[in-house]
Amino acid sequence: MARRKKIYEGKAKILYEGPEPGTIVQYFKDDATAFNAQKKDVIEGKGVLNNRLSEYFMTGLAQIGVPTHFIKRINMREQLCRSCEIIPLEIIVRNYAAGSMSTRLGIEEGTQLPRPIVEYCYKDDALGDPLVTEEYIAAFGWASQQDMDDILSLALRVNDFLSGVMFAVGIKLVDFKIEVGRVYEGDFQRLIVADEISPDSCRLWDMETGQKLDKDVFRRDLGNLADAYTEVARRLGVLPKNASPITKPTLIN
Ligand code: TMP
Ligand code: ASP
Repeated sequence: MARRKKIYEGKAKILYEGPEPGTIVQYFKDDATAFNAQKKDVIEGKGVLNNRLSEYFMTGLAQIGVPTHFIKRINMREQLCRSCEIIPLEIIVRNYAAGSMSTRLGIEEGTQLPRPIVEYCYKDDALGDPLVTEEYIAAFGWASQQDMDDILSLALRVNDFLSGVMFAVGIKLVDFKIEVGRVYEGDFQRLIVADEISPDSCRLWDMETGQKLDKDVFRRDLGNLADAYTEVARRLGVLPKNASPITKPTLIN
């Protein structure tokens, strides 16, 4: 059997060439990193949960007409996706102050923002993904004005969708990060949601207790990360409703 070609290995995923041109396979690892990989661990079951949760969110987005790279889940750790040119930005949407925004502006974590605030970071691990303005993005040609209009619209649609889905299961969507990619269709190009949407890239707080159900559990040493992600999956119906948090998840197909 021929070995498939690895395109890229990131901190939480490996990308392989897909079975057909224009496709890739995303493999979800169990590795967890924080603070630009200064803190690292292997969390058994995390990759399986994120594969399934990202499938759940991307499928839901497609159902409401938000284009994504997701094609289908292949197995417990892999999904088939459309290949795209990743725009070198991390697009963050915040509904409540937390994390770097709270640190930067001295706003108490959990403070509701007057409206969703979208911010952009330049995707460069060596630089620690620095916050940039639209002026930088235009001047350095990372994205055009049309791209930025489309990115803002995608980000806000994802925010509305995810906020609603989470609200329905008693979880507050504090903030999240997405990545966007460019695909070409004949003479046209368009932008689609790419990468992953999972508790690795969101802040999710239980609405009643404020309990953190996202990667902050790992960043801040608040308990077992796989248990937190299992709880999110269970509430969304990705795991059986009556499942208790488990570290080796058995998933519904
Ligand atoms: P921040 O408050 O640390 O800037 O994070 C904002 C959101 O972006 C939060 O939901 C976590 C997510 N995020 C990532 O997905 N990748 C990253 O590298 C960082 C720093 C944050
Ligand atoms: N993903 C980043 C890292 O590994 C940062 C983070 O999510 O906190 O290091």
